[in-house]
Amino acid sequence: MTASGPDFAHTPVMPAEVVSHLITDREGAYLDLTAGRGGHLRALAGQLGAGARLYGIDRDPIAVAETTQILQSFVQFRKIIQAPFAELDHVAGQFDDSAFNGILLDLGVSSPQIDNALRGFSFQSDGPLDMRFDPDSGVTAAELIDTLDQKQLAEIIRSYGEEREAARMARAIVMERQRQKIATTSHLAAVIRAVTPKPQQTKTLARVFQAFRIAVNRELEQLEKVLPLGFQLLKSGGRMAVISYHSLEDRIVKWTFQSWFRPRCTCPPGLPVCVCGVKAIAVAVTRKPVSPGEAEIARNPRARSARLRVVEKL
Ligand SMILES: C[S@@+](CC[C@H](N)C(=O)[O-])C[C@H]1O[C@@H](n2cnc3c(N)ncnc32)[C@H](O)[C@@H]1O
Repeated sequence: MTASGPDFAHTPVMPAEVVSHLITDREGAYLDLTAGRGGHLRALAGQLGAGARLYGIDRDPIAVAETTQILQSFVQFRKIIQAPFAELDHVAGQFDDSAFNGILLDLGVSSPQIDNALRGFSFQSDGPLDMRFDPDSGVTAAELIDTLDQKQLAEIIRSYGEEREAARMARAIVMERQRQKIATTSHLAAVIRAVTPKPQQTKTLARVFQAFRIAVNRELEQLEKVLPLGFQLLKSGGRMAVISYHSLEDRIVKWTFQSWFRPRCTCPPGLPVCVCGVKAIAVAVTRKPVSPGEAEIARNPRARSARLRVVEKL
């Protein structure tokens, strides 16, 4: 299942903004935890000196193989490791640098993954209902849909798709799977379409497919785990940049960053001065999330929901 060629290219989101916010040392070490097709790594390479070092992680073995090839010609490129980023603490020892000047996360799914029907991410093409970033491990969306009970299915659709009609969708799925196993993207899409008024169908399908993708890949748990692990690997003065694509991700990034630059005082109530000694460990580089401009959205509509937040370690 290869995904190369122009049809499976990925356009990096806000590359100029990422580069300008992330680089603090032109000869430093930088780690992209969502290497994808290496779009951001290439943008970074273009602005870094020859002594800089570039590393990556991606859960998708196809992305790792192809991007390792693509990046060979860059003098700063070192290696990309195939792993879920929440295992950063276990795999970071394989890099030649042990601390980084910049760490990037560009969350979610890449164009080569969406555009390859065989990966099962898209309701716009017909393929196996897979949705795993790593097709060699974990359960597929089809297996989840086949085995979870109606309540669990509704919970996934409600929590991860923010879909109000989740109970109705879950009921339709359970009724259909009693008739025939739901094993393809087009079958799931047909079930959802059948219980959704026409004007809302595209948005509803996007929400339901997002919900199962998040559940299959445990995306929110991965994100909650990786942020503190990445922060530990930053040098003092190093920066972490995160691009998120929906409110569930952005909320986790926002609250985690805030806990670093505005940590909670743990003193008992009523004390006249703080004695717990809690201290900020980071400063905000972006006070508000940075969004792509209109020209970028016109060129690359998949960028439209992107939000970039950046912090600097003290
Ligand atoms: C939006 S794409 C990144 C694209 C990349 N910035 C570029 O310019 O080519 C997100 C990538 O993150 C990877 N990914 C998602 N969740 C991951 C996780 N938990 N661990 C490692 N990689 C993950 C996906 O496989 C995908 O390749």
